[in-house]
Amino acid sequence: MSTSKRWGPYTSMKAMQEQGPLVIDRAEGVYVFDEDGRRYLDAHAALWLVNVGYGRREIIEAVARQAEKLSWFSSFGGFANRPSIELAERLIDLFKPDGMASVFLSNDGSEAMETALKMSRQYWKMRGMAAKTKLIGRQHAYHGVTAGALSVAGITANRRMFEPLLGDIRHAPAPYRNHCSYHPGNAVCTYACVREVERMIQFEDPSTVAAFVAEPIQAAGGVIIPPPDYLAQIREICTRYDVLLITDEVVTGFGRLGDWTGARHYGIQPDMMTFAKGITSGYQPLGATAVAQHILDAYMQGGAGEPELRHGNTYSGHPVAAAAALANIAIIERENLLERARAAGSHLGGLVDQIAKALPNHVADSGAEGLLGRVELRSDGHEPPGALGNRVTAKMREAGVIVRPAGNVITLSPPLIITDDQLDSVIETLHGVLLEVMPV
Ligand SMILES: Cc1ncc(COP(=O)(O)O)c(C=O)c1O
Repeated sequence: MSTSKRWGPYTSMKAMQEQGPLVIDRAEGVYVFDEDGRRYLDAHAALWLVNVGYGRREIIEAVARQAEKLSWFSSFGGFANRPSIELAERLIDLFKPDGMASVFLSNDGSEAMETALKMSRQYWKMRGMAAKTKLIGRQHAYHGVTAGALSVAGITANRRMFEPLLGDIRHAPAPYRNHCSYHPGNAVCTYACVREVERMIQFEDPSTVAAFVAEPIQAAGGVIIPPPDYLAQIREICTRYDVLLITDEVVTGFGRLGDWTGARHYGIQPDMMTFAKGITSGYQPLGATAVAQHILDAYMQGGAGEPELRHGNTYSGHPVAAAAALANIAIIERENLLERARAAGSHLGGLVDQIAKALPNHVADSGAEGLLGRVELRSDGHEPPGALGNRVTAKMREAGVIVRPAGNVITLSPPLIITDDQLDSVIETLHGVLLEVMPV
């Protein structure tokens, strides 16, 4: 009989029963500490998100002040609270260069995506094109765990047990250069995956396609960094066929790539964007779905009365989460963390390429864009997929550094405040661990 009272998310409960969980007790800067006082350098910002680092008094105090004043009240049916109004204004200021005009608040990245998908279908109905319902996601994509978000996501292991998922969903290939099925061996890029998106829209018939969904960099899929003009080409196709482009900025938003958004980093304006994670750096749960002016306009055509969008989470516009986000954004701006992410990101890029050069028998591929990095391990193919990545991650943890595997890719996503010396020590630790775990 199992004794697991706490069911861990994406966790092997049997392994946890055997080994016990690693209980993180406190944190400061880029370091977290377990209950025995052991220190770990968090080279993943926990789950891609503690952008401003741990222990920020400014956010903690903003949260406490707001919880004392108004811990929560409903935002349904015309109520609102001041922090969520201020946050919406702040976000639209920040995302004006991305073409965004209005924002819907929820609790996490899955809800933000669920909101975007529903909005996109209703948008076409409101514009008199009710047949435009199909959604196109990509292989290797991660968009969350709810039914809609999981349906457009493309990590097979996450989907398999819950099928059948939503109908009317298609999956395009990812721009995964070193695993390209069109040009194995990464010899040449002919943008065949981009042309496949166009072919897919044509085949489905553009009059039935509502939206294309893409993370600017596919994080959980293995930090899949596309060619620099990939997203611009996708934008052009979506515009040509009247398909909405939704960028999932849950990881790439709020500075990770050295810009406020991944879309801006790649020079495009999407029709909708989803955010979570770095929006509060994890000090409170919060999701956001931003929409362009033409989407807002379509919803605003009728008279006042019924809700234009019959959708809302109990905690939509939570005042304490909004207060955390405002304080978090203030830190990112005041400390120029976008610039810091660009500089540190270029240092990280140099480091991962160095380790790939130094250990060619261990590392198959490397890369970084901003502070999102990848070191892909060379597997001999005798182990189950991902076993090597798990072993290296476990050894890194023993050595005092937290990273995350995506299959056999070691992914790196540290807080934006990480120093070059700290980045050096992450890669030095990885170097030692690879020599120990992968004798060749
Ligand atoms: C790109 C992306 N979108 C959406 C999500 C889902 O966010 P959440 O876990 O907050 O629901 C994640 C989570 O890792 C993500 O990486």
